Amino acid sequence: MIEGLVLGLESSCDETAAAVVLQGRKVLANIISSQVEIHARFGGVVPEVASRKHVEMILPVLDEALKCAGVGLGDLWGVAATQGPGLVGGLLVGFTAAKALAFGLGVPFAAVNHVEGHIYANVLAHPDLTPPFVCLTVSGGHTDLLHVPEFGCYQVLGRTRDDAAGEAFDKVARFVGLGYPGGPAVDRLAQEGDREAIAFPRAMLGDGTFDFSFSGLKTSAVNHVHNLRQRGEEIPLPDFAASFQEAIVDVLVAKTLTAAEAVGVEKVVLSGGVAANSRLRERMMAEGQAMGFQVYYPPLVLCTDNGAMIASAGYFQLRAGRHSPLDANVIPGLRVG
Ligand code: KG4
Ligand code: ZN
Repeated sequence: MIEGLVLGLESSCDETAAAVVLQGRKVLANIISSQVEIHARFGGVVPEVASRKHVEMILPVLDEALKCAGVGLGDLWGVAATQGPGLVGGLLVGFTAAKALAFGLGVPFAAVNHVEGHIYANVLAHPDLTPPFVCLTVSGGHTDLLHVPEFGCYQVLGRTRDDAAGEAFDKVARFVGLGYPGGPAVDRLAQEGDREAIAFPRAMLGDGTFDFSFSGLKTSAVNHVHNLRQRGEEIPLPDFAASFQEAIVDVLVAKTLTAAEAVGVEKVVLSGGVAANSRLRERMMAEGQAMGFQVYYPPLVLCTDNGAMIASAGYFQLRAGRHSPLDANVIPGLRVG
């Protein structure tokens, strides 16, 4: 057995992922089998199709991770898997495989909150990062603004009242025919567009809360396209993408930095799939630094779902003595804080 060697499995949405991480910080292998192409033709993730694909891929991905890390099952010190939030069928695949492995190997098991996992992507990427900090976790399923006074302790400052930020990107992108997932496509198109071309609403900006709402923006974007189509006009896609993206980024950056100031932390952390957005990274860094904050975000490969972030979070849980029982179950609606 190698002290601190943790296998992390992630299967909450449309990525089957396995990673081997040493002592929560050093990634030895990070294998991700994406189902994006399979779901793209449906315009979004089909849960039953995802579950079946996870069943098919979990063992090959696990084998590949061990091979790539140059270790065997007997070297593992612990096993971690995503408990939730996510799609129940997918969650069950990785979670059950991890529990079976932990039982068979006689090593401890860590049930990891997926949102907490996203935060640990930053721990992997920035060894110097320690709490306290304010963290914005933005992905396809969640938009959470958290105060992290110490690892393992999460105080919710705000969250979305309707759609998640990534969900807004995906739904609007699908509506204008940009395929799935929409975030990367909008990001790419936006590079050539005018961010001020269309005045989309900035919901709840300056309302004194740290909550978000993206459904009004989504409706406004859809109405804008309807109007153009009715008039027989072409949709100026780069301008549309740039303006839409800017409306989301404006609110995310303003609320996060205001929250960090209110809480009195010096560090601001960005995580989750939408943290891959180039404009969000650019503006959070520039405006955060201008206000005196240290701003952190993970490299792109650790922003979207992966097993390494789960292994890292799992390692710190196990090291703190928080072993999960083997009769634990998945929790599709699990939250932090
Ligand atoms: O964290 P993640 O892989 O899965 C969930 O936990 O939901 O996040 C996926 C989300 C999708 O909504 C995708 O469109 C979005 O992250 N995303 C982006 C970018 N890359 C991925 N959104 C905006 N800009 C990007 N570059
Ligand atoms: Zn995620």
